[in-house]
Amino acid sequence: MATSITVARDIKATVSRSPPISVSTSPATTFRSLSFHSSNSSFPKLSHNSYFPYHQPVEKQLKPFATEDIKILLLENINESARTVLEKEGYQVEFYNHALTEDELIDKLKDIHVLGIRSHTALPPSILKRANFPNLLAIGTFCIGTPTASLLPLARLGIPVFNSPFSSSRSVAELTIANIIILARQLLDRNAELHNGQWNKVSTHCWEVRGKTLGIVGYGHIGSQLSVLAEAMGMVVTFYDTIPVMALGKAKQVATLDELLIKADFLTLHVPEAPETNGLIGAAQLAKMKSGSYILNASRGSVLDIPSLVSALRSKHLGGAALDVFPAEPGVNGNTFEGYEELAGLPNVVLTPHIGGATEEAQRFIGNEVAEALVRFVNSGSTVGAVNLPEVALRGMKVGEEGSVRVIFIHWNRPGVLRQVNGILKDHNVDKQMSDSRGEVAYLMADISCVKEEEIKCLYDNLESLTSKIMTRLLY
Ligand SMILES: NC(=O)c1ccc[n+]([C@@H]2O[C@H](COP(=O)([O-])OP(=O)(O)OC[C@H]3O[C@@H](n4cnc5c(N)ncnc54)[C@H](O)[C@@H]3O)[C@@H](O)[C@H]2O)c1
Repeated sequence: MATSITVARDIKATVSRSPPISVSTSPATTFRSLSFHSSNSSFPKLSHNSYFPYHQPVEKQLKPFATEDIKILLLENINESARTVLEKEGYQVEFYNHALTEDELIDKLKDIHVLGIRSHTALPPSILKRANFPNLLAIGTFCIGTPTASLLPLARLGIPVFNSPFSSSRSVAELTIANIIILARQLLDRNAELHNGQWNKVSTHCWEVRGKTLGIVGYGHIGSQLSVLAEAMGMVVTFYDTIPVMALGKAKQVATLDELLIKADFLTLHVPEAPETNGLIGAAQLAKMKSGSYILNASRGSVLDIPSLVSALRSKHLGGAALDVFPAEPGVNGNTFEGYEELAGLPNVVLTPHIGGATEEAQRFIGNEVAEALVRFVNSGSTVGAVNLPEVALRGMKVGEEGSVRVIFIHWNRPGVLRQVNGILKDHNVDKQMSDSRGEVAYLMADISCVKEEEIKCLYDNLESLTSKIMTRLLY
């Protein structure tokens, strides 16, 4: 049976970026009725229930605009799983399988509500300064990285950036397992020899991996997946992490990196890029590794010092290395990999172009995860998964809660703002409220009830008039 709901709208404006806008940014709001259970409903199905599994199943659908008004620009051949999620919401999705030039991107930004990019769209602060993007609500980076230099400027504009840091964990772990066996059996050298017509059947310094010790540096999403896979092959797993971590299977945590270095037959690096991990493995650490042992790096290029590695391989102190990441990586495919000639000329060295997470499965997971985070933000204001704003979510409103409004107030994190906001909301019942801050920016969400339609504009104007305001959105 069709359930009728109040027309849902979004009031949002950023006076700092564009002139104030009228009550609704939806030129032709068309929500009339919504069937929550009918499969032939043309209205998109509720998507945010799954994120709030602990409360009533039937929620009021907050929709910021008529969905056909939401314009999404997806660049760089983002996986079709993302398009599916976004189009299901009724959004207009414009898709390119390549990156745009800076000028093309600036032109497109004028119009869109959400931008989806991958690693080849730099989005530096200089673009943000040049561009005019009055409607932009959020950015999705459909990869692990983010436009680091622009995260703060975007947060200051109230624009969250969502990414997908862990969708490729399994793919990286599997590549690492493959490389462990490749190194142990000198597979790539035999392969290259045979491609050149050279039959070289040798067993010297070729090993089974069963019974060998795998040393994992960084027992996070990837390190722990790897631990399980390696143990299934009969490896003895030890790991070093800066925090105490629950070991899986029979894996054992050691107290120091040095302890791991002297124990490991295979040392594999899975730490984040950070000042503390920059040059974590250099000449001194390599010297402590077992003679004939192997090193693998699929984390970040900055973690392992390449000249020291070249010396350790040349002197035969190490038996081989597998690198998927490099201190400087080309931005485009082609004959662009330069500066690693010494490494490339050495035996039993596996070099791959940062493909640890480059699988169909990982791309599909990334597409889904980022697109769903964007939908949650656009439709209900949730910033869960944002990398540059505090993560705030409220459970949904129930159908029938007419006269309810969700207030989203992104503001400078200053004393007294909550008092001012609550002063504005004081004539309404605040059903629920959550606020959090991250550095200088704070994010407040409150669901208020008993609001008459004619009061909404006034609420909006009052919030907009606060000097602490970065962005106001009202969803109802
Ligand atoms: N090659 C690829 O394509 C690819 C794909 C995905 C991720 N990565 C990279 O893999 C790395 C690990 O990713 P993850 O998802 O497992 O990260 P994660 O955050 O889940 O785990 C990292 C672990 O490292 C630990 N750690 C931090 N500093 C450390 C230090 N100095 N010494 C020891 N341990 C330390 C943390 O406590 C954490 O447990 C990251 O650098 C990520 O960028 C590469």
